[in-house]
Amino acid sequence: MLRSQRESAEAEKDHMERVIGIDLGTTNSCVAILEQQTPTVVPNRGGYKTTPSIVAVTEAGKRLVGHIAKRQAITNAENTVYAAKRLIGRKWDSPQVKNALMTTSYNIVEGPHDDVRIELRNKTYSIPEISSMILQEMKMVAEEYLSEPVTKAVITVPAYFNDNQRQATKDAGAIAGLDVIRIINEPTAAALAYGFGKNVDATVAVFDLGGGTFDISILEIGGQGVFKVIATTGDTFLGGEDFDARIIDWLVDGFRAEHGIDLREDRMALQRLRDAAEKAKCELSAVHEAEINLPFIISAASNEALHLQASLTRAKLEELTEDLIERCIEISKQALEDAQLGIEEIEDVILVGGMTRMPAIQRAVQDFFRRAPNRSVHPDEVVAMGAAIQGAALIEDKREMLLLDVTPHALGIMTFGSHFEELIPMNTTVPTSMSKTFTTSRDNQTAVKIIVMQGDSKNAEDNELLGEFILTGLRRAAKGQVEIEVTFEINTDGIVSVDARDLETGQAQSIQVTASSGLTPDEVRRMASDASEFMLERKADDAYESAKQRAETLIASIDGMMAEVERSVGGADFGRDAVEKGRRALDAARAAVQSRDAEAILEQVQRLERTERMFRGVVGGT
Ligand SMILES: Nc1ncnc2c1ncn2[C@@H]1O[C@H](COP(=O)(O)OP(=O)(O)OP(=O)(O)O)[C@@H](O)[C@H]1O
Ligand SMILES: [Mg+2]
Repeated sequence: MLRSQRESAEAEKDHMERVIGIDLGTTNSCVAILEQQTPTVVPNRGGYKTTPSIVAVTEAGKRLVGHIAKRQAITNAENTVYAAKRLIGRKWDSPQVKNALMTTSYNIVEGPHDDVRIELRNKTYSIPEISSMILQEMKMVAEEYLSEPVTKAVITVPAYFNDNQRQATKDAGAIAGLDVIRIINEPTAAALAYGFGKNVDATVAVFDLGGGTFDISILEIGGQGVFKVIATTGDTFLGGEDFDARIIDWLVDGFRAEHGIDLREDRMALQRLRDAAEKAKCELSAVHEAEINLPFIISAASNEALHLQASLTRAKLEELTEDLIERCIEISKQALEDAQLGIEEIEDVILVGGMTRMPAIQRAVQDFFRRAPNRSVHPDEVVAMGAAIQGAALIEDKREMLLLDVTPHALGIMTFGSHFEELIPMNTTVPTSMSKTFTTSRDNQTAVKIIVMQGDSKNAEDNELLGEFILTGLRRAAKGQVEIEVTFEINTDGIVSVDARDLETGQAQSIQVTASSGLTPDEVRRMASDASEFMLERKADDAYESAKQRAETLIASIDGMMAEVERSVGGADFGRDAVEKGRRALDAARAAVQSRDAEAILEQVQRLERTERMFRGVVGGT
């Protein structure tokens, strides 16, 4: 009796806590579960293991998702959304959105938070809403298979997604009625599925080229089930869509040359071109030549129907997309550099994403890594499988599996002078938190603005704005006298929260940075100049302060001798040389002081000391 009770309790637990893993792709989505310790991809009603990430609204107002939406895309081009993932978490005036405005057959409009909305049959939808429709579909696919409701999910995102994009994806999950227990990175998920239950002990690279994004991650997989990401990088605007676009351009240009008509102006024609381009691209992975035949593509002014007919060879496709492939390799190089590993240290290269079926990509990967890539994993399904594995591990609190991922971008705040002050460097293992103390930049400053940014440039304006908040009620004191401690936290989903406190009064403010607090780059620029009175200044640390003082003393001394040195020895070659060297030393030292990097300044201090000695020799000797 007791035993059966326990058994039913176990069954109940099983029942309650099933977690699905969803790969929410740009082109295709996939859902998996862990069944008897085996990751299983769940087929949809049509028997397909992946579902097109396409959403449409019909004339009758009916919502369609997946294959059924794809099938009607040509006749309902304006109301069919594809590749919405490219827009998620993006600001209205970002270059990516501008690009999408030019190339999509659906209507993209500006949202109220400087965000992006899509208009379908006179109703506007936010991108998380569109993505939620796909998530809902995947949830339903799993529920039909399991014959029970599902709420918990692990959703994957490109490793290179920033905080705004992660937040927006989580929002999409919530809208779909899912409890998103974790967001994980796609290449990491792929590595999990690759190493799951296999006792792998190796350093591997995951090369993931999908429909919209390229990610590369370098991981150390330990025999004890430890998956540690060492470095990750990528491009969220490099994928199959861009390969298709090259073919479309080629077709459009050819047609224009022949008939003087721009096919882009016709949405239906554009949608047919998109379809044909993708189909030809996929065919060319197997054969060397593909025929593109689009009868009645458009009517000319004379009402004469025109047809598009072209033959695309694999060689031509490779020529059209050469730079895209090169870019993948460049990024891979960067990942190795970030990981501080040589190519020979990578023991296996795992290919993920539909685009890795393209022979030219396999060739480029093989040439670069100097080894045949591993093709044992299914490129379309492995990410969802990894998400399911992670989901089960989280619920079962499995200690034999440990996942250590990293943040792909540096995190910091904007300080006085539009300087990006980094708090957490890129490729830091998450979860993590870090604090730094700043000071006020003005006398009697009673408020500070904390502008939170993510990116890899020293110049704040080049980075992505995540959000801002104001800490008020500071005590009045001279500039630099009030100390504010800023703490950044990144959780295991890669989502950021920030806390600022006045160290003296304990006054504190914190935010979970949210995607809707959008600001345009112009606003950021304005903020940087107008609101400088609100800004924090980096707290001078002792090392920096003393290095700076030493450098400034030497600079003044050398500057003071410069004219005399020039007068006494400037006529001779060696003299001109000495003066020139002195000037260069001064420039380098000034730049180092500007950079606020104590170590860089100290390096220049040595150079200044040599210059000063030389100058004193000249001045003293006359
Ligand atoms: N045989 C093939 N040859 C070339 N390309 C292919 C082939 N099969 C699929 N693709 C391309 O792969 C891309 C889809 O890959 P995948 O399903 O992995 O992307 P995704 O997961 O939806 O996107 P992402 O991971 O970027 O968000 C599409 O651009 C598709 O055209
Ligand atoms: Mg993918």
